[in-house]
Amino acid sequence: MTSFVEVTQDGHVSTLTINRPEKLNALSQEVLSDLGAAIQALAGRDDVWAAVITGTGKAFVAGADIAAMKGMSEAEGRDFGALGHGVFAAIEELPFPVIAAVNGFALGGGCELALACDFIYASSKAKFGQPEVNLGIIPGFGGTQRLPRRVGSALARELIYTGKMIDAQEALRIGLANAVFEPDALLSAASKAAAEIAGKGPLAVAAAKRLIRDGVDVPLPEANRLEQAAFGEAFGTKDQGEGMEAFLEKRAPRFTGT
Ligand code: COA
Repeated sequence: MTSFVEVTQDGHVSTLTINRPEKLNALSQEVLSDLGAAIQALAGRDDVWAAVITGTGKAFVAGADIAAMKGMSEAEGRDFGALGHGVFAAIEELPFPVIAAVNGFALGGGCELALACDFIYASSKAKFGQPEVNLGIIPGFGGTQRLPRRVGSALARELIYTGKMIDAQEALRIGLANAVFEPDALLSAASKAAAEIAGKGPLAVAAAKRLIRDGVDVPLPEANRLEQAAFGEAFGTKDQGEGMEAFLEKRAPRFTGT
């Protein structure tokens, strides 16, 4: 059986492509399960140091699958939400950065998927939005929580209450997207950024991701203590010795993730 998520590998960088273009990559239970399985497989590999998530065709992901959701009961809706939350939390918990290469529509669950990634590169054709209120529901895969944390409460409220779509330039302006590229240049830009990250000490990058992720949910003094502990731990790694030795010897480091 073929998966809705294609995984390719180039050096230490994995690329996940959501592949259901005839439905604009809408997240059905099957697509979410395939994405979850792909994420779980990556989590178990120590040779993946950065990843890119993108979509096939004119959409990144046009949302959770409306046809599949239409007949859901309250309990089924809750379970579907739990599935999406679980998969997106697993992306946040990966021990390496994930870049969302948003090639087109990133609506509803698509915008939420991009928000679960570390940062977003957008095609100039990308469109973002949380249009759930148009359907009589709310964002259910983390949008009410991750969007305000990313762009601030007031802008998130406006986007979620109106359900309006914004273009890539507006996403850039409000800090939702980090950068905008011509459509043909998007994937190579995201892959290049991922490769650059994968060239750094992977344990250090993993610790930085963990601290940035976890730090927002705890008071600043505690968050700073987490950083102090992790900073010390970095000196227990071979990569610290290699990175500093390489600098002093004026050569490129050879990190091993140990
Ligand atoms: N769930 C299920 N199917 C979806 C979908 C979704 N979220 N988004 C698009 N599709 C399907 C369409 O039903 C259509 O299927 P069909 O060819 O069998 O009729 C196909 O994908 C192509 O979409 P279409 O609407 O014809 O493309 P478009 O270019 O005219 O419009 C959008 C693109 C994104 C504006 C429009 O598809 C849309 O509004 N989608 C829903 C967005 C949304 O509300 N997402 C949040 C869900 S909680």
